[in-house]
Amino acid sequence: MRVTRHPFRSDDTRIASSEHSRAPAVVKRKSQDGKTHNYIIRGGIEGRERLRVLARVMRPTTLNLFDRVGIKPGMACLDVGCGGGDVTFELADLVGPKGRVVGWDIDEAKLELARREAKERNHDNVVFRLLDISESDGEPEFDVVYARFLLTHLVDPVGAVARMLRLMQPNGLVILEDIDFSGYFCHPYSAAFWRYIELYTQTAQRRGGDPNIGPRLPGMLLDAGVERVQMNVVQAAAFDGEVKLINPLTMENIVDSVLAEGLASRAELDTLIDELYEFSRNPRTIASIPRIVQAWGHLGN
Ligand SMILES: C[S@@+](CC[C@H](N)C(=O)[O-])C[C@H]1O[C@@H](n2cnc3c(N)ncnc32)[C@H](O)[C@@H]1O
Repeated sequence: MRVTRHPFRSDDTRIASSEHSRAPAVVKRKSQDGKTHNYIIRGGIEGRERLRVLARVMRPTTLNLFDRVGIKPGMACLDVGCGGGDVTFELADLVGPKGRVVGWDIDEAKLELARREAKERNHDNVVFRLLDISESDGEPEFDVVYARFLLTHLVDPVGAVARMLRLMQPNGLVILEDIDFSGYFCHPYSAAFWRYIELYTQTAQRRGGDPNIGPRLPGMLLDAGVERVQMNVVQAAAFDGEVKLINPLTMENIVDSVLAEGLASRAELDTLIDELYEFSRNPRTIASIPRIVQAWGHLGN
């Protein structure tokens, strides 16, 4: 596949360099639900398009995981931080018409796109709700609670896991997938590649997130009293195709946050994004995505 510069890049995030200022340790931004969040990746349609690419890259390993843990027809599932619903729809296919899936997210624009897509695909067993896992509580109604690439963004991931467990029925299954940016690799050495990783890591940490949360997941489940905890590690890497698009796309979609944190100038970021796409286009280079830890286990009876 020919890798080209992504069409969803926009200039509406440009901030004059004189406006750069150092932000406090944890900066929260207003979201569509009118509340403040620390999510560093651009939301809305642009964020949604990045998630589509990410979902295609992740699909084989996420489906393997669901096969391994035993997602069955008739189950009631919750996909927390569902984004545009890519995994929500996969779960809906697996649980079938006798099951149901609920997707929660704080980004109403993505949820609206997901609702439209659910209609187009005739997914009658899916519902999308605007809810913040850091604040929401509910009834213990789910057989499965799943979250991919959510906890990394939260200031209190342990509290979020506790909330997730309260939504599960006895013997319910909790499944987490999250990133470990320290596990990235590329070949040959690329200064742009490592600058991107540095900027992402620093921005996420300043907003109170943990870009290296992956290895913490099994311990978080054990500490929460989850039983029969297991883990697995997956990582996509390639010399061509969409795997290599993820990094420049992510860099483009965190530009607003990096600028707001005063970590780089717009000029540096423009050059960096060009270099990342250049690296992606070269079939003699290899790029990975972050190492990903999958962890899962059951509630007691
Ligand atoms: C990296 S995306 C992953 C989306 C989806 N899980 C996937 O793997 O395609 C993280 C999602 O979590 C959502 N999110 C961030 N903070 C959240 C919170 N406190 N409660 C619910 N969703 C949240 C974001 O809006 C975003 O859609």
